[in-house]
Amino acid sequence: EENGVAQPPTGVGLEGLASAAAGCRACELWEPATQTVFGEGPPTARIVFVGEQPGDQEDRTGEPFVGPAGRLLDKALADAAIDRRDAYITNAVKHFRFTPKGKRRIHQTPGAEHLRACRPWLESEFAVLRPEVVVALGATAAKSLIAPSFRITQDRGRLLPWALPGLPPPPVTDEADDDEPDEAAPSQTWILATTHPSAVLRTPEEGRAAAFDALVEDLRVVAAALA
Ligand code: URA
Repeated sequence: EENGVAQPPTGVGLEGLASAAAGCRACELWEPATQTVFGEGPPTARIVFVGEQPGDQEDRTGEPFVGPAGRLLDKALADAAIDRRDAYITNAVKHFRFTPKGKRRIHQTPGAEHLRACRPWLESEFAVLRPEVVVALGATAAKSLIAPSFRITQDRGRLLPWALPGLPPPPVTDEADDDEPDEAAPSQTWILATTHPSAVLRTPEEGRAAAFDALVEDLRVVAAALA
């Protein structure tokens, strides 16, 4: 992991990945951070939420989306009838990037180099989970997972067909006219991008309720796809 890209172990499951990620030194963010904040959720999850990076409280507790953004996400999930316990929640970058300002630590958007260094962890999570739907929370995750040109404001709330990154291409279709099911036939994966919960929190008071409702509406699209 000294070459600037994480090298996750294979065949170790989510817990094994989390243990390995705890020692990741693939970028410099590990040093000022308290700990790696790995993804959390059951290996059976059909839906994966991908945020940007842990915030202050996530860095202290070691768990994703437990601070103010996490509480807003919890409310939005409840309104969309999605049980957080059925979902896997993770981040594109697994260390908190910040600049100290007195006693406070100010969030800094991760750079392309941090996304690149951390990406193998995300791909390993996808490889274990093979989710049906991935939800990109905010521009950082959406641009990284869908396309650099992706614009949340224009393209949010739509389920797009998506190939899980980092996985081998699907096997050639079994042309034989037999009754054997194709081996390891990959199920279709979808991705949907929506606003980051922190963006809702930053929305000026007069527009905040509408921003929250728009997030819930996008999450209902996800809930309907899983029903
Ligand atoms: N914001 C994120 O993107 N991820 C977290 O885990 C918390 C806040």
